[in-house]
Amino acid sequence: MSLDVETRLARAGIGTDPRTGAISTPIYQTATFAHPSLGASTGYDYTRSGNPTRSVLEDIVADLEGGVKAFAFSSGMAAINALLQLFKPGDTILTSEDLYGGTYRLFFDVFESWGLRFVQVDFSDTATLTAAVKLYSVKAVFIESPTNPLIRITDIKKVCQFSKKNCLITIVDNTFMTPLCQRPLTLGADIVIHSGTKFLCGHNDTLSGFVVVNSHEIAERIAFIQNAAGAVLSPFDSWLVLRGLKTLAVRMKASQQNAGKIAGWLSKNSKITEVYYPGLKSHEGAALHARQSSGAGALIAFRVKNKQHVKKIINGVRVITFAESLGGVETLITYPFTQTHAAIPEAIRKKNGVTENLLRMSIGIEHIDDLLNDLKQAIG
Ligand SMILES: Cc1ncc(COP(=O)(O)O)c(C=O)c1O
Repeated sequence: MSLDVETRLARAGIGTDPRTGAISTPIYQTATFAHPSLGASTGYDYTRSGNPTRSVLEDIVADLEGGVKAFAFSSGMAAINALLQLFKPGDTILTSEDLYGGTYRLFFDVFESWGLRFVQVDFSDTATLTAAVKLYSVKAVFIESPTNPLIRITDIKKVCQFSKKNCLITIVDNTFMTPLCQRPLTLGADIVIHSGTKFLCGHNDTLSGFVVVNSHEIAERIAFIQNAAGAVLSPFDSWLVLRGLKTLAVRMKASQQNAGKIAGWLSKNSKITEVYYPGLKSHEGAALHARQSSGAGALIAFRVKNKQHVKKIINGVRVITFAESLGGVETLITYPFTQTHAAIPEAIRKKNGVTENLLRMSIGIEHIDDLLNDLKQAIG
């Protein structure tokens, strides 16, 4: 019987421990496993290579994204680090102009010195893409949609078609939408990555990351890298993400409902000049986002008219918390200019729109009246 994704999420892990029938997936807190005899294995040898708690989680994430295999890592950055090892010195990866600051740092401050090249492009500009493919030894494209922090939307299907035509691997960071709202592999992408730290886990208590692939060939290579490099998700953290996943659907519904109301309120406030949220008709890319996703998400970015106002808002919020990260049940406000995107050189930050008057919020599941009242008193 095929089950709805909400049912699959709520029942995640049930039936995976036939010996005891445990409803909550057991935490196999072991580094190693006894072998029945020489040359025989239970299927598990050593936790870096595979662990039953992690396997349950990886199978569920693969199922949610529609991939052939998922791999769990100790953080989102560890997942991206592993997938970059698919490439060789001299290879070029085309990437979005707007990008999470940590990803930018890994690309330009770590992997460029190992010989990979990253070229930031506007994916809506086919002429630039075609020129880049002619100029460099392009092997892949890496996109976020929506982007962090400016919530820019990229046409995933169109990028995948371009990639296929040019024999490139398409990688999509699906952290902001989760497989509940957007499934890039079904739109033609080859690899999806996640910071599982965010919505998948959902409680701001665990770091995790995922690589999900749609081909056995890439799966084999990532499995090799995961085991060889070793930044695997621990059994206990795997269990925490599994527990978080069970409520993903209700959390996403509540967060998105709150986010829609807050974005509407912000867009009417005279002290705010721009609101970036794909649930607003005015948002560039709103129609495209609606075509490729089934929800507007819970991330909102906005610009205040006067940059001095930023401090008043950040120091003024009482319910909402000033902290980095996103995707948890708690509403957080972040200042990308000095926090999440500080690793990007200032001139590039400013050119891309990550300026001193930009704030980003990740909307949680608190009561909407408390969130709106808090914003009213902090923004004025
Ligand atoms: C879009 C996106 N991708 C990747 C990451 C990295 O994930 P982690 O913090 O789990 O390493 C983040 C972190 O904020 C992110 O926002």
